[in-house]
Amino acid sequence: HVTIQGDAQGVPFSPTMHGVFFEDINYAADGGLYAELIQNRSFEHRDHLYAWKPTSDSVAIEIATDNPLHANNPSFCRVAVETAGAGIANGGYDGLDLEQGAKYLVSLHVRGPGGNVFVILRGANGEEAAKATLGRVTGEWQHLEGQLVPGSDVRDGRLEVVFDQPGTFDVDMVSLFPADTFHGRRNGLRKDLAQKLADLKPGFVRFPGGCIVEGRTLDNAYQWKDTVGPIWQRKQNYNLWTNRDNPQYHQTYGLGFFEFFQFCEDIGAEAVPIVNCGMACQARRGQPAPMDELGPWVQDALDLVEFANGPVDTKWGRVRAEMGHPEPFNLKYLGVGNEQWMEDYFERYLVFHQALAAQYPDLQIISTSGPQANDGYYQYAWQRFDNDVPADLVDEHYYRSPQWFLANSERYDRYDPQGPKVFAGEFAAHESNRASTLRAAVSEAAFMTGLWRNADVVTMASYAPLFAREGNVQWTPDLIWFNNTESYGTPSYYVQAMYGQHVPDVSLPTEVDASEVAAPQFRGRVGVGTWLTQAEFKDIRVTQGEQVLYEWDGSLDGWDKFGGDWSVVDGVIRQTSEAENVRAFVGDEDWSDYTLELKARKLAGREGFLV
Ligand code: AHR
Repeated sequence: HVTIQGDAQGVPFSPTMHGVFFEDINYAADGGLYAELIQNRSFEHRDHLYAWKPTSDSVAIEIATDNPLHANNPSFCRVAVETAGAGIANGGYDGLDLEQGAKYLVSLHVRGPGGNVFVILRGANGEEAAKATLGRVTGEWQHLEGQLVPGSDVRDGRLEVVFDQPGTFDVDMVSLFPADTFHGRRNGLRKDLAQKLADLKPGFVRFPGGCIVEGRTLDNAYQWKDTVGPIWQRKQNYNLWTNRDNPQYHQTYGLGFFEFFQFCEDIGAEAVPIVNCGMACQARRGQPAPMDELGPWVQDALDLVEFANGPVDTKWGRVRAEMGHPEPFNLKYLGVGNEQWMEDYFERYLVFHQALAAQYPDLQIISTSGPQANDGYYQYAWQRFDNDVPADLVDEHYYRSPQWFLANSERYDRYDPQGPKVFAGEFAAHESNRASTLRAAVSEAAFMTGLWRNADVVTMASYAPLFAREGNVQWTPDLIWFNNTESYGTPSYYVQAMYGQHVPDVSLPTEVDASEVAAPQFRGRVGVGTWLTQAEFKDIRVTQGEQVLYEWDGSLDGWDKFGGDWSVVDGVIRQTSEAENVRAFVGDEDWSDYTLELKARKLAGREGFLV
């Protein structure tokens, strides 16, 4: 029985309750949401010629830096062509995959001794799918543009930039974009991926991270000013998530703060930018800026608000207007720092808070509660927020087991509704093998009932991370996977969609008496997290449609197991691992605090399990 007090006043719901967390991890930006198809278009990768090669042996290429397009974009490709019709080629991200009849916009900057420059789209076997003349080459840098419409589908293809006479040419900023981007924006977003985000009906978009805000060192920190203005003037950086498998992971900042704000506006979501608090990533031992060098970092935060909201006659309001948006973006939220902790953080945060609150008293300032799910530290941080450290919202992160999520659906029942609001800025249930599973998604859904019940405490929540490009993955699980032509959501995506698409106005007091409630039918594979008695379940089958997926024979063969050893003892499935093993799975938490046992019941007249 469910009793809802319909005449109660209830707790008003924040329209920002469910949002998305965007970070350039797993190739989420370049090679992902940002629709640019050319990789290393401006030769600024650590390996400057990465993804480029000559079209034939009659071409020699090298990197040059004399008299570049812009000081922020110092490298370009010098192409020495011996035979007419030759040049350089780029296969984008894992080969170009383009659609027959679709329009693609191509552009580049070039200078050289004369002649014409052409672009050609070729398929995997070198077959020509489209060709265009971009124009005449002169001794000065010129920006040339054109269109390509493939006469056939291109799979694993490449774009060639070729010259119709021998000579030495300089080439930079070679760009190929689908004309059909999300909301038809120039320099825009890949349509299917942006639509997947829009379909979640997010109340906010948090960007640009994540650890990427912090940087490995302060030189690598995300600087929003590097990401605005003409794309060939943006100062690029390597990506913090670069690793041995993806040594060339790079940030072009083609998807920059203007594009983020514009996307938020396009989908009706609040923008929630996070700025660096003058500290590099503590988990990577990055050093904080000394307190007497904090000024520029604080100024960047103030300038960001001006960029978003300032009149067009202010310095940064003018930059926004010149980019095509004279109206303010109406920024309401700003996060200071990502996962930073202890006194180094509070000392710096207080300086930011004072400056921001003085100049922008209506701005909602978000503080971080420190490293992910370190509850011991969270308690300390919250004591500070409840006493001497002001914040409108506090950002909590937790990447924990499905059991943790189930056991924590009442987490916020004990938070003070009068204190700062909670921004659950990054969360995801992590299986021990970090797979995206139905069980993880269900545990997140269960946990989120607690967010709704405490809508006066939690006003924002976002799953993390958002995207993963197949073959370029630094972190799992993720919400949305994609390759060049397809994208799909994990079970957790559908949980976020279910919640985001049904945000209520008010949360009413509700009582649930489960004693007579028929258990919902669970179809699919059952994970261990449930204690099942052999007597109760010996005749249970898991089916999907007509297909029998699982028939329990009383053994544990074929089950997903985690948290050490499991076995059937006296007819009951039990975890038999040593405490040590369990601790390895649950981290520093005291396992005995959790209710691991979930009552499973035989489902009268049905086939299935309640997990
Ligand atoms: O979401 C991946 C990472 O997890 C984020 O960058 C960071 O904030 C957290 O540690």
